[in-house]
Amino acid sequence: MKVALAYSGGLDTTVSIKWLKEKYNAEVITITVDVGQEENFEEIQERSLKSGALEHYFVDAKKKFAEEYVSRCIKANGLYEGAYPLSSALSRPLIAEEVVKIALREGCDTVAHGCTGKGNDQLRFDITFSALAPNLKIIAPVREWNMSRDQEIEYALKHGLPINPKKSRFSIDENLWGRSIEAGELEDPWIEPPWEAFKYLKPLEETPETPKEIVIRFEKGVPVALDGVKMPLEELVMELNKIGGMHGYGYIDHIEDRVVGLKSREVYEAPAALILINAHIDLEKMVLGRRTLEFKKIIEEKWANMVYSGLWVDPLMNALNAFIDETQKEVSGEVRVKLYKGSARIVGRRAEKPLYHEEFITYTSKSLFDQRAGEYFSKLWGLETHLWYMRRGSRR
Ligand code: ARG
Repeated sequence: MKVALAYSGGLDTTVSIKWLKEKYNAEVITITVDVGQEENFEEIQERSLKSGALEHYFVDAKKKFAEEYVSRCIKANGLYEGAYPLSSALSRPLIAEEVVKIALREGCDTVAHGCTGKGNDQLRFDITFSALAPNLKIIAPVREWNMSRDQEIEYALKHGLPINPKKSRFSIDENLWGRSIEAGELEDPWIEPPWEAFKYLKPLEETPETPKEIVIRFEKGVPVALDGVKMPLEELVMELNKIGGMHGYGYIDHIEDRVVGLKSREVYEAPAALILINAHIDLEKMVLGRRTLEFKKIIEEKWANMVYSGLWVDPLMNALNAFIDETQKEVSGEVRVKLYKGSARIVGRRAEKPLYHEEFITYTSKSLFDQRAGEYFSKLWGLETHLWYMRRGSRR
C-alpha cells in the first residue's frame, strides 16, 4: 500500500504517519499545502521525514486559494450561521485536490487525512477525494483508531515523534482566510479564550489609541486594492489580517452546529475575512436592488451550508456560483472602514454605478423626485389594509 497523506505537521497528521506504517505497513508520502498558514515549512518537512514518511511534498497554493476559493466566499458573503467565514471549510477541497494530484502522479493507491470522526473536515476531504479520484482508497487514521487527543500525545511521545505537547493543547487550523482554534480549556464555553491562543489579535488594552482608516476597492465583487494600492488578493488578505488584528478586530466565539449533529464552541480569528465580507455587503447595498439583495440572501445561506458541509464539488455549487457571479457584475467601488479597539466601522462607500441616486433622495430643493407621486402610491400600498379595517371599524 502506498499512501498520500495530507500533512499539516500537527499532532493528528504526525501520529497518522506512524500509525499507517504500523498498522498497514504502508509506504507513506506526505503533502503539505500552503494556503497561507505562515508555518515553518522546512520544519514540517523534517517532522514528516522524522516520523517515517518516505517523501514529502510542498505545494504553494496561496494564490489559487485566494482566487478560486476566498474570492467566491467574499462574493457570497459566506458566513456559516452568520458568524464563521468558512476558513477551514474552504481550504479542505483545495488541499484534497492537491493531494490527489500527487497521489496519482506518484502511483499511490490510497489517500489519507488526519481528521477525526467528530468533525466536518472528514466530510470535506472524503467527498472531494472520492469526486476527484473515485478509485483511490481513503484512510483516516485518527478516526479509524478512535484515539483521543491525550492518547495521541501519549502515542507520539512513546514513539519519539517530534511533537510539541504544549502547543498541542489547542487544535489549530490556519490559513490566510482565518484561524480556527479548538480544544483545551476552550471546550468549556464559559471560559474566555486565553490571548496566547491568538496570532493576529491583540488584547484590547494593547491596541492603538488612535483609529485607523482603510479604503478597500472592489471590482466585480472582489477586493483589488487597499488604500489605492493594487495588490493580489492573497496579499491584501494577509495585510488586512495584520492591520485588523492589531486593532483587536476579527474575533469570533460562537456555538456552532456541526454536520454530525454536535454543537461545538468554536473560536476563530479572521480579521481580513470579517472586514472584507462586511465591506462587500455594504457595497452591494449601494449597487443591487432590494429584490436581488433579498433573493441573494437565500442563495448565500445555501452556499455557506454547502461549503460547510463538505459539498464544494457538488454540481449545485456551480449553479449557485453562476447566480452569484451574475449579481457581481456591477459591484465595483470603494468602502471606507475605520478600525478601533476591536471594531471595524464602515464610515463611507462609493460605487461606480450606484443604484443610490443622491438627486432623488435629497431633502433639498434640488430633488428630482416629485413627492406628489407619494400620495397615490401610499393609498394603493395601504389599500388592502385599509379595506380590512373598513369592514371591521377602526383598529383599537
Ligand atoms: N469548526 C470549523 C469547521 O468545521 C473548524 C475546524 C477546524 N479544525 C481544527 N482542527 N481546529 O470548519
